[in-house]
Amino acid sequence: MTVTMLRSVVEAALRRAPTSSSSSSNQLLRRRCYSSDSNPERKVAVLGAAGGIGQPLSLLMKLNQLVSSLSLYDIAGTPGVAADVSHINTRSQVKGYVGEDQLGQALEGADVVIIPAGVPRKPGMTRDDLFNINASIVKSLCTAIAKFCPNALVTMISNPVNSTVPIAAEVFKKAGTYDEKKLFGVTTLDVVRAKTFYAGKENVPVAECVSQLQNSACVCTSEVNVPVVGGHAGITILPLFSQATPTSNLSEEDIAALTKRTQDGGTEVVEAKAGKGSATLSMAYAGAIFADACLKGLNGVPDIIECSFVQSSITELPFFASKVRLGKNGVEEVLGLGTLSDYEKQGLGNLIPELKSSIEKGIKFANQ
Ligand code: 2OP
Repeated sequence: MTVTMLRSVVEAALRRAPTSSSSSSNQLLRRRCYSSDSNPERKVAVLGAAGGIGQPLSLLMKLNQLVSSLSLYDIAGTPGVAADVSHINTRSQVKGYVGEDQLGQALEGADVVIIPAGVPRKPGMTRDDLFNINASIVKSLCTAIAKFCPNALVTMISNPVNSTVPIAAEVFKKAGTYDEKKLFGVTTLDVVRAKTFYAGKENVPVAECVSQLQNSACVCTSEVNVPVVGGHAGITILPLFSQATPTSNLSEEDIAALTKRTQDGGTEVVEAKAGKGSATLSMAYAGAIFADACLKGLNGVPDIIECSFVQSSITELPFFASKVRLGKNGVEEVLGLGTLSDYEKQGLGNLIPELKSSIEKGIKFANQ
């Protein structure tokens, strides 16, 4: 949907407003949606911007009115992507950077760095099979981040997230720039999938776009909510359907099936694409939702809560995905797991060994 189409949706909704008092508040909402006056300058850098996730993610970040400068970096192809995206008449100025020589310029002054760089899965591969290639890519990108924008929030999409986040942490520790509040593994796609599958099963509307537009980010907000904890691979993805809203009385079989579908969501897409990559469009959407939440937190918007794979002490593991409250410095609070069902407690027990070993693999790689 284009910005113009999105505007039409909002304007149509505003025209339907019944009373004069709501019409003045609607004018206010309209201003909040489209004015950039009150939003501070924010630079967002996308590393891997010419790739399958990077391109749609760059488009979505160009539509985000919280971004004033959009920096698109890749080892090839970014001049074209940047030229293309830069013609869109939204707030941000777009620049493309290509090759390692330009990485520093791409990063300088960034408030948020989004990393979708690396290779995707092919059918039959796990996310861990990408480790050998993507780990080195992430290590060198994070070395540059430590040098050129050590205070940026870093949101990691490159797989295996369960290992690449610990790699990034180790690189930043070595450089003396590590701030655990500013490093995130993006697990938003697991939440997006859990919401979609749950809403489908419950036959309730999954999302309400207009209300989110009134808050200025042109993406949908969800009426359905499902926290997803753990990590971002197979059984380490643990959706907490017992905490889903609206509440339901799903059978144990239904919950087990929804859990499995959420855990295998990435593989479902890899198989459907039959060798042509993994989730790119839904991943870009999820990455954009998470970056938008980070920007809102930086800007001081209260009560911004998203699930993310962060440094954590809510389990025995040093990194764990759970709900986190985002603020002006990144993670403001890592929220607890809440009450788990017996099924979820069992899932938590089962995921710990695999997640532990993925985290340790990342730490070991970064330190060798
Ligand atoms: C997924 O879950 C690409 O890891 C991503 O599909």
